[in-house]
Amino acid sequence: MNMKKRSNDRLLGYVIGESKPHEGVFLAIKPPLLGEYIELRYDKYHVIGLVQSSISGSIILDEKMPASDIGKIIDLLKIDNRSIYYKGYFRILGEVENLRIPPMPPPPGTEVYKADSETLSRVFSPEGSQWCRIGTLIRNPDVEVRIDLNKIVQRHLAIIAMTGMGKSNLVALLSKEIGRRRGTVIIFDYHGEYRELKVDNEAPNIIEPKINPRNLTWSELSRILGVRAGAKNQELIVRICKSKADETKERSFLDVFTQCIKTEALKTSRSEMRDAAQAVLDLVEANRFFFKNLLDDNVKDVIEQIVLSKINIVDLTGLTFAQIDAIVSHWLHKILEERKKAVWAVKSSGINYKGLVHPVMIFLEEAHIYLSTNRDTLSRYRAELIVREGRKFGVGLGVVSQRPRGLDPDIMSQIGSWAIMRIIQPEDQMFISRVSEYMTEELVSQLPSLNVGEAIIVGQWTRVPAIVRIDHVTEKISGVDIDPVAEWLGKTLR
Ligand SMILES: Nc1ncnc2c1ncn2[C@@H]1O[C@H](COP(=O)(O)OP(=O)(O)OP(=O)(O)O)[C@@H](O)[C@H]1O
Ligand SMILES: [Mg+2]
Repeated sequence: MNMKKRSNDRLLGYVIGESKPHEGVFLAIKPPLLGEYIELRYDKYHVIGLVQSSISGSIILDEKMPASDIGKIIDLLKIDNRSIYYKGYFRILGEVENLRIPPMPPPPGTEVYKADSETLSRVFSPEGSQWCRIGTLIRNPDVEVRIDLNKIVQRHLAIIAMTGMGKSNLVALLSKEIGRRRGTVIIFDYHGEYRELKVDNEAPNIIEPKINPRNLTWSELSRILGVRAGAKNQELIVRICKSKADETKERSFLDVFTQCIKTEALKTSRSEMRDAAQAVLDLVEANRFFFKNLLDDNVKDVIEQIVLSKINIVDLTGLTFAQIDAIVSHWLHKILEERKKAVWAVKSSGINYKGLVHPVMIFLEEAHIYLSTNRDTLSRYRAELIVREGRKFGVGLGVVSQRPRGLDPDIMSQIGSWAIMRIIQPEDQMFISRVSEYMTEELVSQLPSLNVGEAIIVGQWTRVPAIVRIDHVTEKISGVDIDPVAEWLGKTLR
């Protein structure tokens, strides 16, 4: 009796009209809620579905009514509202047991129930150490949503939203969960917001972006110095003098490099080469103090700076875009190479390998800057290699951006898992539905109505699309907006 009453409370309506195995319409007893999960039983199937669109209408009030009568009719309808109807359009996500779409559509008249927490937990909270809690369902706060961490390392992740909607909070949460499982995370920290992240009370490994210039490629060094991409003569000077400085190990790299420009390049008879050499020299001289901090002959190789089974934070604050591009490119290159060595070492088991012995997850903040279609960056090429080859070698890439339409579609279309938060720009929404096979039109249409910390989770890391309230990580330092008026008033009144 009790069971019966409970299920009647949850009865939302009945399937009507024509349905397909993966979608249908129901006439609802009360207004269906967008994003609400439903369950249906028909034939031998027990399926879970999602309300994708909710409609209400009237069989009496329509556009052909004379305006003079409408007030009186509405007064009558207030007493008896039987002329109002509600419809819900739903998508079938699959059978509760295995999430496969049944071969048969739900027949008309099938009862549609609000899914109960027990059914939803079977779908959204699988057991196993790769399943990690990220929050709860927005419409069912008692149901935990867990995602598959293996999938984000194997097939990469995109975290996309307008500014201030909770992207970095999710990066912090996932990093902590990976850390708890003794995994290795590398975050390129653009705003210095991850320094306080702790795993079981242990502080992260903060890495200053110092690089041994001898380990850089000439194009990376050119970008760090500020040579414009495509300035061929200046790049040639960097190339010649870098190889000279690479060989002369007993003296400082920067000294030998500068000396080389002065003694060799400036002396050439070709005036365009002399101009190029002078331009490079000016760049070095203007930023000598800064380069002395950034380029360090004695610093260990980037791989040796990574601490395994920890969150590693590469601090990029205070650097220019070109420098960040060069540094990120250098790290991505080294990490992939190192993981290749590790995998080969395992295959040819005689080799004693001690570097990146297990898979790593990399998070790239503000990815539109270096993975942009419009800019020819060094890191774009490296990131492309990782999204294509990374799965074979255990290198996962997490692309975080507030400007998805600027991102390289070749990279984005290789990404298997997505967390998308509030986005209102139609161009950004269109880009997402174009590159992510998992985002249906209906899901995209819900993006503007999400609040801070709420996300649509689709792709391989979740068994079915989920609309989630993400857990809040309090240790992440938020970029608090400054309050100019209060500061002005404070200053003038003092
Ligand atoms: N799941 C959440 N629950 C509650 N508050 C949240 C949640 N996620 C983020 N916030 C809060 O919202 C603010 C912005 O979060 P966050 O820095 O993660 O956003 P972002 O998308 O990375 O922003 P930006 O584009 O500036 O990098 C912070 O104050 C943060 O504490
Ligand atoms: Mg952020």
